[in-house]
Amino acid sequence: MAKKSFYLTTPIYYVNDAPHIGHAYTTVAGDVLTRWHRQRGDQVWYLTGTDEHGEKVLNTSKANNTPPQDWCDKLVESAWKPVWKDLNIANDDFIRTTEERHTVRVQKFLQKLNDAGYIYAGKFEGPYCVGCEEFKLPGDLIEGKCKIHSKPVAMLSEDNWFFKLSQFAQPLLDHYKSNPSACEPESARNEVISFLEGEVRDLSISRSTFDWGIPVPWDPKQVIYVWFDALLNYATAVGLGDDESTDGGKKFVTTWPADVHLVGKDILRFHAIIWPAMLMAAGVAVPKKVFAHGWLLVGGEKMSKSKLTGIAPSDITKDFGVDAFRYYFLKAIPFGSDGSFSWEDMAARYTSELANDFGNLASRLIAMIEKYCDGKIPAVAQNAELSALLRQTVETADSAICALDFQGGINAIMDFCKRVNGFVTETAPWVVAKDAAKKSELDQILYNTAESLRALAVLLHPVMPEVTEKLWQSLGANAIGKIGDQQISNVAKWGQLPAGGAVTKTEVLFPRLEEVK
Ligand code: ME8
Ligand code: MG
Repeated sequence: MAKKSFYLTTPIYYVNDAPHIGHAYTTVAGDVLTRWHRQRGDQVWYLTGTDEHGEKVLNTSKANNTPPQDWCDKLVESAWKPVWKDLNIANDDFIRTTEERHTVRVQKFLQKLNDAGYIYAGKFEGPYCVGCEEFKLPGDLIEGKCKIHSKPVAMLSEDNWFFKLSQFAQPLLDHYKSNPSACEPESARNEVISFLEGEVRDLSISRSTFDWGIPVPWDPKQVIYVWFDALLNYATAVGLGDDESTDGGKKFVTTWPADVHLVGKDILRFHAIIWPAMLMAAGVAVPKKVFAHGWLLVGGEKMSKSKLTGIAPSDITKDFGVDAFRYYFLKAIPFGSDGSFSWEDMAARYTSELANDFGNLASRLIAMIEKYCDGKIPAVAQNAELSALLRQTVETADSAICALDFQGGINAIMDFCKRVNGFVTETAPWVVAKDAAKKSELDQILYNTAESLRALAVLLHPVMPEVTEKLWQSLGANAIGKIGDQQISNVAKWGQLPAGGAVTKTEVLFPRLEEVK
């Protein structure tokens, strides 16, 4: 049987506007995790995409005097896909909810739930936030406004189709109590459990007052509620419901259930309650984990498009570069907590951690090998302390990153980098070089430093793919294969850089900020 893939998803984002750094935060985190898994030798499938139906997108397209499908096509092609490309996101697939592969499978799924008796006709009366695309409870509002969007909600009164969500409260509680890792971090799990312990109501899963959506198969005057449609993307993209003899069916067997749905905490309940209930009703396995990370804040509030506090990724990458952007948010904010973005903090970390600790180490080493060793990697040598520390570093980083503790993982790697800097300072190769009798001591220092940089390049590759590739070239490490093919389990094996390999000077890995235009 084909090997099960490590299957990771991001939310599919609304195409009412271009991506901001909040969307990039989730997508970069997913990219780092999947690149790490690829380097662990896992079969990986990484999905992202766009959520295109519903009132929010429809209203935006109307405000722009554009038919909704044209609006979506334009945003996807001119904004979403290019931003992910610029940020070096290596997703395997990109799903749009207006694609036929999605709409057909959604209708089939809903029909199946209807046939199984989980759908009934009812009337929805109550508040609705178009920003969240969510039916609200009175307790979700502050002075009649949505807590997240700080905007007045609409009052709906519609004849709709309902899903018997309430029937799944107990099975879901049992699920989270016996599988705590199915919802992380712990704060998110506690929120989900307390919600399930309260009154869980059935869910309206259709809308009748506009037509921008997937028609309900047996009642085409209604469109399927945008969240019911959107959540299914994770499964429709990999062939949900297709016969096992088909390509779709085969894909489903090797990807489902998803290993991690990465989401922001704003959309935790949809993912940890509604989505697994839909799957349970259909007799499909539930995802292994929903991980809800925190918010990037501006002025203490969630940064958002609707509040016009969104910062475009390019505003940051134009000064700091793509790699530093990818590094910064995962290193500076514990994954799962909120964090405030600040230019000062970004600049300070860029200079001390990336330009000084990492970039300078690389340029000093290359310069010394050129100067003292004729540009050739010296004879293989093994420093006991560095090689032992590297083994420990790889172990710590691997278990932290696999547990989505990006900060812990990157800290371990950067601590190793600091120690290598300490080693260079203490051994002072520029002093040793003055004594011709100490050539072999000099060679040993430089080999150990070069070998440490080889390991750092591989370990940081998932986080900073471009800069580490440059370093790899500069160390002449292509002799041992491509950087992306290096396995995490093999990183700590000392002595891989072949003696005699030629190093080359590269452009500065992290240019000084005042030089940045
Ligand atoms: O909710 N901080 O789409 P959306 C951190 N279409 N992450 C943030 C963020 C911030 N300030 N702002 C946005 C939707 N995000 C639905 C999802 S999934 C079946 C449907 C990220 O465009 C974070 O991942 O509002 C959040 O959950 C997501 O973008 C919401 O994107
Ligand atoms: Mg949102």
